[in-house]
Amino acid sequence: MPIEFNEKNGTFVISTPQTSYISAILEDGILAHIHYGGKIARFDFAKDVFKYIPRGFAAEDIPGGSTETIPMEYPTFGCADLRRSALHAVYADSTRTTNLRYASHRIFKGKKPLAGLPSAYVESESEADTLEIDLESRNLRVTLVFCAYREMDVICRSVRIENISSEAAVLKNALSMAFDLPESNYDFVTLEGAWAKERHLSRGALAPNSEKSIGSCRGASSHQQNPFFALCSPDANEKAGEVYAFSFVYSGNFICGAQVDQFATTRAFMGINPFDFEYELKSGEVFQTPEVVCTYSANGFGQASRTLHKLCRTRICRGKWRDAPRPVLINNWEATYFDFDEDKIVEIAREAKQLGVELMVLDDGWFGKRDDDWTSLGDWEAHPRKLPGGVARLAERINALGMKFGLWFEPEMVSPESELYRTHPHWCLHDGDSPRVQTRHQLVLDLSRPEVCEYVYRSVANVLRSANIEYVKWDMNRSMSETSAVTAWRYMLGLYGVMEKLTSEFSNILFEGCSGGGGRFDLGMLYYMPQFWTSDNTDAAERMKIQYGTSFAYPASTMGAHVSAVPNHQVHRVTDISTRGAAAMCGRFGYELDLRLLSDEEKAIVRRQIELYHNIEHTVHHGEMYRLSSPFDSNVTAWEFVDERQAVLFVGNMLAEPNGRFWHIRLEGLEPDALYEAEGKTYRGDVLMNMGLIWEAKCDFYARIFTLRKI
Ligand code: GLA
Repeated sequence: MPIEFNEKNGTFVISTPQTSYISAILEDGILAHIHYGGKIARFDFAKDVFKYIPRGFAAEDIPGGSTETIPMEYPTFGCADLRRSALHAVYADSTRTTNLRYASHRIFKGKKPLAGLPSAYVESESEADTLEIDLESRNLRVTLVFCAYREMDVICRSVRIENISSEAAVLKNALSMAFDLPESNYDFVTLEGAWAKERHLSRGALAPNSEKSIGSCRGASSHQQNPFFALCSPDANEKAGEVYAFSFVYSGNFICGAQVDQFATTRAFMGINPFDFEYELKSGEVFQTPEVVCTYSANGFGQASRTLHKLCRTRICRGKWRDAPRPVLINNWEATYFDFDEDKIVEIAREAKQLGVELMVLDDGWFGKRDDDWTSLGDWEAHPRKLPGGVARLAERINALGMKFGLWFEPEMVSPESELYRTHPHWCLHDGDSPRVQTRHQLVLDLSRPEVCEYVYRSVANVLRSANIEYVKWDMNRSMSETSAVTAWRYMLGLYGVMEKLTSEFSNILFEGCSGGGGRFDLGMLYYMPQFWTSDNTDAAERMKIQYGTSFAYPASTMGAHVSAVPNHQVHRVTDISTRGAAAMCGRFGYELDLRLLSDEEKAIVRRQIELYHNIEHTVHHGEMYRLSSPFDSNVTAWEFVDERQAVLFVGNMLAEPNGRFWHIRLEGLEPDALYEAEGKTYRGDVLMNMGLIWEAKCDFYARIFTLRKI
């Protein structure tokens, strides 16, 4: 059984194919964390695995010992354990101590959805098993939920907190996970960034008696930090070393980190950011925390990422588009910005169609009076001058070309210069009479309010019903201000509700998330929308870093990636169209430029790129990814996707070197004895894996795709 309870010694053993997670109920009812890591097939002893060791200066709050020296499974505020707690509540009588003790548990097949929140799912009960452990204090019943997949090294964790007292309590902190590892010799790895340079890899050693943590208080998971972190042994690389990786299935304010204590143990934690959080939990009410996805790999980052990719691809993303090939698109944003009309869009689409593009996406500027970013968010009706025949006529004309039609929305926002704002000036987030802070001349609609959610749902649904729209880009272009942490939490629940309604009602539509590029790229969003615009930065060299970093937590199948014009609009760099194509083909492929302006030679390349993409898309989006050379350490970036049919290798370099060295790119995951054909040559798998293909940095920012077809 993947989850076992040993009554004799009070231990819970949770197993996945290659990992085990063990907790034990100590004599006084405290739930201790015993092990997370490599698989332990039988675990018969338990309580004597560690001893209460009397320590100088540690308060004794349990018979003969102290919670300060116990590896805790869900530490709470108010006991002798003065490390970071997972739960902090203030009760009606002003007390704030929570002493949780084991009360009961259940083990069952399958995995339950989380009320109102996205989460990893199962398609049949036999895929996973769940353990729920109830811990109780005077006021609260805290249920720790652990769910283990049978075929993946994934354990999902969340917590339900029920107020079992007769009076309300205030939750000031309710993390989804906080448990103690017995070592501290770890590096802390995160994906940091900013707008247009999201998810760059950051790695640094933990230090004694200190904490490293990251988070967001911006109302969204953010460009600056992604809700993902890993702890790894200092020697860990792509193929070797221990890696614990944690990814949050939530899109709002978060915190995560690692705290090293005086005895060189490490508390790993993740959850809603407690900053400013004060949630009134009424008597009888249950608070459900979002879910954390955990994986452990004894074989480095490559394996940890492949596990997270598989979970995301197959058990986070949902719906028709999870598995179906997705259309190659053209988006008009960088081609026209706000300067377009119906005819111009049709002409761009006509050219694109001739080159093999399948979907025309009309971006910002199609509604209200929107000729720049000062106006009209919230007024989701066609711009009368640009689209005199409405969205429907444009969609018909695009369809008549033999293409699908898609549309941009930014439904969570309102422009002060709009009908919506004039009618409902209080529907935006605001704080009394304080000035309403604008970003990009816009305010955030308060989705913690049901009537606002209803408006957002109705206004988007009306447009989707009015025309043959087969793709939606759902954008969100600012952080939240003038709000409380609890409003931001309720906002996220409101938003998830709207997204659930729209994506299930319009289940044939392909939804792509966006937040000024990748400002809300997380598992929460990917549960509703199976792809996300990775970054507003479309420069191929920058994309090597962004897509490489993103791949630590998310599969290529979720990364929107487009070929854009040169000089690039974000960094003004000129790269050749094949380099741009190579980088974009390692994500959800599309174009974002006026293809009419290309030379005939470039158009011929575009036609071939689309043919090539159709040939490799299954491998890129459903195969296993191996990272081979990092742009953060090397002049050369390389990664590879492999499925049963072929390997797809991406190689690119930054600056060329005069009379420079050759790079041997050694592939992985091939069959040593099989033959692979690339560019008219045949290689054995073991040659490709042990000697590699030779790469020469021929010119600056040069990248190519190689397909190695198994013969
Ligand atoms: C954001 C998106 C872009 C584009 C613009 C439109 O910045 O990331 O792709 O849609 O908004 O205003």
